[in-house]
Amino acid sequence: MTSTAQSFVPQTHDLDQLAEAARTCQGCDLYRDAEQTVFGEGAAHAAMMLVGEQPGDQEDRRGRPFVGPAGNLLDKALAAAEVDRERLYVTNTVKHFKFTRPSGTRRIHKTPSRTEVVACRPWLFAEITSVKPEVVVLMGATAAQALMGNGFRLTAHRGEELHLPTEPDLGVDPSVVTTAHPSAILRRPAEERAKNFDALVADLRFAAGLLSG
Ligand code: URA
Ligand code: SF4
Repeated sequence: MTSTAQSFVPQTHDLDQLAEAARTCQGCDLYRDAEQTVFGEGAAHAAMMLVGEQPGDQEDRRGRPFVGPAGNLLDKALAAAEVDRERLYVTNTVKHFKFTRPSGTRRIHKTPSRTEVVACRPWLFAEITSVKPEVVVLMGATAAQALMGNGFRLTAHRGEELHLPTEPDLGVDPSVVTTAHPSAILRRPAEERAKNFDALVADLRFAAGLLSG
């Protein structure tokens, strides 16, 4: 049987209890080599939820999402879009850092497999059900495909207000906006970075504009 996080996810909408339970998740093999689970964090009933891919090296060390280079870029984009990070809930599709160590020293990010994404997804579903955000921003193909379907093409839906598939029924129906991943922007050639950053800011501003309050 394919393993999944499902049996580790408690029946609760309490984010602290979910985060506590996630610390001992063994729903896939990624817990073995990572330092710790990096669960989502932020305002308990945040109107906006941001979803990345998986923790990076620094997130794995510190146990918090988006606190490394990608987090710095995200913070700058949020500031430019006039979105207050304090009012968000920020999380990842996969809660453990997946990496290789080609040279035996520095840990290099490795994209999680579809199996790992699907295994970890019950945590993300639980976060959405608990936070009940009005808007979910999916950053990058991993997050977008995890929630919108494996065939979802990120570039085809920039600037659109989308909705989650009806299955599974999460009991909530947030607006969904997809955008580039901050790490992908950092990997662009220097001369393209400003344009990609501006597009991320525009997408965040668009998402904030969908909020009722
Ligand atoms: N990239 C992500 O997707 N998430 C993080 O938390 C850090 C980098
Ligand atoms: Fe559990 Fe997700 Fe970590 Fe796999 S990556 S062990 S499913 S929390």
